[in-house]
Amino acid sequence: MALLPILRYPDQRLAKKAAPVPVVDEKIRKLVADMAETMYEAPGIGLAATQVDVHLQVIVIDASEEKNGLHVLINPCIEKSEGTCEGEEGCLSVPGVYEKVRRAERVTVRFLDLQGQEQVIEAEGLLAVCIQHEVDHLNGKLFVQYLSQLKQSRIKAKLAKKARITA
Ligand code: NI
Repeated sequence: MALLPILRYPDQRLAKKAAPVPVVDEKIRKLVADMAETMYEAPGIGLAATQVDVHLQVIVIDASEEKNGLHVLINPCIEKSEGTCEGEEGCLSVPGVYEKVRRAERVTVRFLDLQGQEQVIEAEGLLAVCIQHEVDHLNGKLFVQYLSQLKQSRIKAKLAKKARITA
């Protein structure tokens, strides 16, 4: 396994739309293992392939407290969304920024597992929010894009400053 570098906002590669995985093979399983290692190490509760500059529809999530509940979603499709909730979100591509975002409370998502088998899960709470956040990444969308233009400019300036200090 290997740790993968995570793209940082406002990197334009984060705006790319991910393509569906044509076949779940060893290469995809290796990508998933590397993504999971990168997510746990960060540490984060979700990571989309887009964030590691691989533009395929692959997501890893572990929203459990014990960090023993890994979800791997390949070619995820949210088929049903219900209710609304608002919670503070962060993102490994937007370090140090936490803002309130409105999401659906429950989602039904269809996807392929690591064996290429179709699965459907119904999720709620943090897992549901996480799935929506990561599916957004695959569509080239970041959570900061739900915020006002003013807030987005402030976040960009803050991250640019931080990049200069660490560079
Ligand atoms: Ni994110």
